[in-house]
Amino acid sequence: MKNINPTKTLAWKQLRHHFIDIKNIHMKSFFNVDKNRFCNYSIFFEDKIIIDFSKNRINNETLRLLFKLAEECFLSDAINSMFFGYKINKTENRSVLHTALRNQSNKYNIVDNINITLLIKKELKKLEYFSNSVINGDWKGYTGKTISDVVNIGIGGSYLGPYMVTESLKPYKNHLNIHYISNIDGTDIQEVLKKIDLETTIFLIASKSFSTLETISNANYLKNWCILQTKCAGYLSKHFFALCENVTAALNFGICSKNIFKFWEWVGGRYSLWSASGLSIILSIGFKNFESLLYGSYMMDQHFLYQKISHNIPIILALISIWYTNFFKTETEAIFPYDAYMQAFPEYLQQSYMESNGKSIDRNNSLVTWKTSPIIWGQSGTNGQHSFFQLLHQGTTFIPCDFIIPAISHNPVDDHHEKLLSNFLAQTQSLAFGNNININEKIILKNICNNDYMHHKYCPGNKPSNSIMLKKITPYSLGALISLYEHKIFVQGIILNIYSFDQWGVELGKLVANNIFNDFFIKNININYDSSTLGLINIYKKWNNF
Ligand code: F6P
Repeated sequence: MKNINPTKTLAWKQLRHHFIDIKNIHMKSFFNVDKNRFCNYSIFFEDKIIIDFSKNRINNETLRLLFKLAEECFLSDAINSMFFGYKINKTENRSVLHTALRNQSNKYNIVDNINITLLIKKELKKLEYFSNSVINGDWKGYTGKTISDVVNIGIGGSYLGPYMVTESLKPYKNHLNIHYISNIDGTDIQEVLKKIDLETTIFLIASKSFSTLETISNANYLKNWCILQTKCAGYLSKHFFALCENVTAALNFGICSKNIFKFWEWVGGRYSLWSASGLSIILSIGFKNFESLLYGSYMMDQHFLYQKISHNIPIILALISIWYTNFFKTETEAIFPYDAYMQAFPEYLQQSYMESNGKSIDRNNSLVTWKTSPIIWGQSGTNGQHSFFQLLHQGTTFIPCDFIIPAISHNPVDDHHEKLLSNFLAQTQSLAFGNNININEKIILKNICNNDYMHHKYCPGNKPSNSIMLKKITPYSLGALISLYEHKIFVQGIILNIYSFDQWGVELGKLVANNIFNDFFIKNININYDSSTLGLINIYKKWNNF
């Protein structure tokens, strides 16, 4: 991977000049000038997803310069390096091969000169066999009953991806009830325990490292609690499973080897839903549907690999995002799925985006002088319209948005879906074009606006959004959508010259939390703490009679 300061490229300099030319142009005029703007600025992914990026503050020249930026940053070399398994996660000396997990060909899957295809296939077979046996009732609990409930214990990527997919694909769900325990807050455990029967529940401990404080503490508590309640020493062999890379730690925990489903160092935590870490998805929707999810993401991988840059969806969306973050100086990006099942999508993207690109040291080991990840936020459906959308239309902050909607609803009720779509379109249209109140902004700025309340109704528009319409949310199209965003994030990391696949900031939090936890139990606490941390620890101890 090349190491290029993006701001030193010719394209970046030209983009700066171009920004001055374009920053005051209203999107209305782009649409007036180009009557085919929708066709010219939208791309189909098969006949399953359309991405309309016409409502952005860009023209052909913007795109030309952004493409030039990608070329000057050797983006296509970087894409090949990832797919070919080069160790592009340099700070952890790892390959980045979540794409191998869904690769339907034998091409590319090489790590350290070893073809990993067989490893992946073997583990998939094991997952298929096990999930089928649970779903069809062959797998029995310790009292001989069939399984009704699955509890996934995991956090970060070992929770957000599987949770988002099981929620988004609820229409494909079978009879199994899937629960998630992620947090170290005891409430999570107690609330799930109220809903399950230990005779008919299996527990999946999802942790790549098998050492994350939250996950292992929750798993230990549940292990002890289950053994105590059931008085059955063999309980674990029927009810506890590990989804991990660190097999030794899982064995030491007491999981039998046949109950361990493995994934590998080259699968990043936040990219692990495609691996054994996605077992809760497989149990929820069945293996065949999981295969469709993998297939959809593979087809988006192919698009990303082979489509020319001017038609490459992840690259275009990534470049537009860089345009806003670094030239318009936007701070955030909002994600609005207009689909109740996809309510967890913004939360999922928060991790994959911000844990990947929330960095300030570049690949040259220098402090960046440009913006890296925007803050990602959002929520589903029209609820947002009746709260924070006000700020999008009339606030002082400029927020690019992605709107996502299926054309075909899983739950058609009366004309609800047409009303939902009308709201979706009304928002993107109003954000782009504002209202027709004819106000002279210069007069408002001069503060000579008499007592005319009309000014308060003024919506200026010129607020950008991408519209992503899926024909229907299926395992296949959801797989493609997730892969689209994964690659968008990757492209941004490459051009912004950062390492997207580590998360040292998060690791710091894990380390410090472990140290503080150990200090709770010693009498003379470490005096090297700052006065705030020490003060709070001491008050906590006093109030809890430690
Ligand atoms: O949040 C940091 C992180 O390392 C994520 O990348 C990962 O998904 C999560 O912690 C959980 O880690 P593990 O799967 O090892 O328990």
